[in-house]
Amino acid sequence: MTIKIAPSILSADFANFGAEIRAIEAQGADWVHVDVMDGHFVPNLTFGPPAVKAFRPHVTTVMDVHLMIAPVDPYIGAYAEAGADILTAHLEAGPHIHRTLQAIRGAGMKAGLALNPGTPAEAAEHLLDLCDLVCVMTVNPGFGGQSFLDMTAKVRRLRQMIGDRPVHIEIDGGVDPGTAPRLAAAGADVLVAGSAVFRGGSVDSPEVYGRNIAAIRAAASSARAAA
Ligand code: DX5
Ligand code: ZN
Repeated sequence: MTIKIAPSILSADFANFGAEIRAIEAQGADWVHVDVMDGHFVPNLTFGPPAVKAFRPHVTTVMDVHLMIAPVDPYIGAYAEAGADILTAHLEAGPHIHRTLQAIRGAGMKAGLALNPGTPAEAAEHLLDLCDLVCVMTVNPGFGGQSFLDMTAKVRRLRQMIGDRPVHIEIDGGVDPGTAPRLAAAGADVLVAGSAVFRGGSVDSPEVYGRNIAAIRAAASSARAAA
């Protein structure tokens, strides 16, 4: 599995999403990560289905939608309709995550399972056959720009548990060229980064995004190759 970089548009210019998405893709983003927050499961509010649908025509790679909402099930159809390729729900968002993952696949999307920092790898054990991706949170969800919580041991354990299943391990929160290598070496292959991609750049100086993406990719890929 090669390393994929998924910039989070939570750190983009909120008045200019179309151009921001086109800029990060032109500068080497593999996926576009969209953080949906409800002000209830997490203490912040971002995008609903109409906003996500408006992003869709600008995304030519993969639209990776991270739901930080509870409940999830009533909104699965709306995010499918909005054009999500991957829809990730939190294990902590309700009592029936197994049903939620089935419903996401049933709606034609890839299913992701996100784990908060306090949730052990073992909580995912009976869900792995229903997942295309496990998202290991390395911050408490809700905001960009928080400091990294080291979940390297959890990633290593999950990669063992996943075995030969085709399941991505995605890391979300505080990813930069300093934190990415240990996670890639432990078995993560998708790195979400908000601040570390958008920092210092803009749609008028998109080459900064390109340099930021390349720096994370280089640090992670060499650690992965050496592991
Ligand atoms: C946090 C979000 C992240 C966030 C990452 O709740 O899920 O995707 O945008 O931002 P950085 O990379 O700035 O920690
Ligand atoms: Zn996210």
